[in-house]
Parts: sequence; structure tokens; C-alpha cells
Amino acid sequence: MSLSSEEHPRIVVDVVIDDHAEEKTLEQLREALLEDPPRLPSRHFYDDRGSDLFEQICELPEYYQTRTEHKLLEDIAPRLIELTGAERLVELGSGAATKTRVILDAMRAAGCLRSFVPMDVSEGIVRRVAQELVEEYPRLEVHAVIGSFLEDLSSLPQGHKELVAFLGGTIGNLKPEPHAREFLSNLARAMGSGEYLLLGADLIKNRRLLHAAYNDSQGITAEFNLNILEVTNRRFDANFELGQWLHRAFFNEDEHRIEMHLEARTDLEFTVAAVGVTRRVAAGDTVMTEISTKYDQQKLEALLACSGFELVEFFTDPDQLFSLSLARTV
Ligand code: TRP
Repeated sequence: MSLSSEEHPRIVVDVVIDDHAEEKTLEQLREALLEDPPRLPSRHFYDDRGSDLFEQICELPEYYQTRTEHKLLEDIAPRLIELTGAERLVELGSGAATKTRVILDAMRAAGCLRSFVPMDVSEGIVRRVAQELVEEYPRLEVHAVIGSFLEDLSSLPQGHKELVAFLGGTIGNLKPEPHAREFLSNLARAMGSGEYLLLGADLIKNRRLLHAAYNDSQGITAEFNLNILEVTNRRFDANFELGQWLHRAFFNEDEHRIEMHLEARTDLEFTVAAVGVTRRVAAGDTVMTEISTKYDQQKLEALLACSGFELVEFFTDPDQLFSLSLARTV
């Protein structure tokens, strides 16, 4: 479905979320809750309050990722445009598109900026950002896709001379095998050959820094983690009591990932009525809410290679906290 926006002649919005989205959501929730240990799918962090808390996390002194990536992007943007000659920027999970403007500015400065394709599930935010951007960039065409980058990549409009940006280290939230590989393989297929991907990924580093980034001193991360229980109570008729759970985040040395859990303070039982699941857990047992895999250049290169991309250039900040990989579909 393609809806030309009434508001502006340079905005087109495609809504591609399919009719079975709700059914799939319930099925995924049910499966996750029945795993051992049980899991809650991390997408349920992000109601209005969760999105607000996550924005606060991004500004915490301990949470280096957002500001490091932003600064790195500013440093390399002209080089990216020189290497790719991109005329169209596609951004997966574009949200408020803050970092996007850094790339758009570099494209405009090089005189090659033509179009922007934001893809995100949050229709309200995407429409607002589209409106802002056509005003800020006088000849820019915006072709927005309201959909999920996990489910709907085949609905991206065909384009060439494009740069697809997947920023924020979100790749780390997918299990390397099979989910990150499957996602990147689908993306490579949707892109066609000789097109460019800019992939943000957090790096393996000093364990104290890693730990602090997910255990901030103000307790915002804990609040964010616990909010998933509130969302689940409201959306899926669950009966979690927030006071019975503790935020737990730690680095798993075998899997090279931060794991976020909620740990039961006492023996207890919870029910998620919308999917008909009741589980009993003992004090100290956990429900897993998120993984955030940390990479190094070699692992990223291997992941890209097995998904249909070749690494063109690997960028990192001076402290090697965060990385941006420029890759090309083969
Ligand atoms: N994508 C973010 C990350 O992996 C998500 C995140 C940050 C997060 N802090 C969190 C998820 C705390 C759950 C709990 O860094």
C-alpha cells in the first residue's frame, strides 16, 4: 500500500505492517515465556515511557554508545559519501533520526543528496520526522516505510546508489546465529549487489566500562528494564508485581554479550493471560529481557562475509569503544 501524503508533495508513506502482526506478536511472546529460563521479547520495552527512559539512558554518563557513535559519524561522514557516492539514504529503525542528519548533511555538502527512506514501526514519529526533514532539506524526497526491519525488508523501495544505515548497535540485540546472520542476509537480498551498508556495532572492551553502561548509578537502566513488566501487564493482561523483581545486567564471557535479566526476589508465580502462560519461579531465578552482543573487527567481518557483504572500511573512535563498518553487497 502506498499513500501519498496530503501534507507534502515530497513525502510518500508506505504502511506495510501486515495483518498477522498481532498474531505473530502473541505467538512470539508465548514461545519466549515458555523457554528455559523464560524470556520477554525486548520489543516490549518501548511503550511511551520506555522510549522516554531509553532516551534518558542514551544521555547517561556511563552509556558511551550513543554519543561515541554520533561523534564517530561526524568524523567519517564526508569520507563515507566520498567512498559510496550515495544519493539515497535508507535508515532501518530510524526513530527520531538524530544521527541521520549528520549523514544527510554530508550528502548535501557533496551535492548528491536526493532521497531519504526511513523505516520504522512507529508511524507517528516517522511522519513527524519526514515533515521536519523536507522542511530542513529543500529538495529532499522522503519515502517512508512504516514496518519492521525484521519482517518487512522486502517492502523497501528499490533503489541504487544507496547507503543503508543500521545504527545504534542494534545488531548486538540479535543473536549472532542465526538471527543477525539471517537479518543481514535478507537485507543483502533486498539491496541488490554493489550497494552499501553502514553498520553500527558496540565493541568488546574493559569489563568495568561495559558493566557500568548497563548498571548506571541513577538507576535509569533498572527502571527501563522493569518497565517491560508494566508493558506486559497492560498489553497482555499479565500480573507481574514490579516490587518482586530486581534488575540484573552482566557480561557473559562465553557469549561475549551483556545480558539483561529480571531476577525474582522470592519464590513466585506469574501469569500472562493473553497467551495463557503461567510460570512458577524460585527466588534468584531470572526472566531474560535482552542480549547485547559485543563484537570486534574480525567477528564483524566474518558475520558480514557469511551474509553477503564484504567489508570496505572499518571505523572506530580513538578509545575503540564503538564501531561503524562500511560494507558492500557482493
Ligand atoms: N540496544 C540497547 C543496548 O543493547 C538496549 C539497552 C540499553 C537496554 N540499556 C538497556 C536493554 C537496559 C535492556 C536493559 O545497549
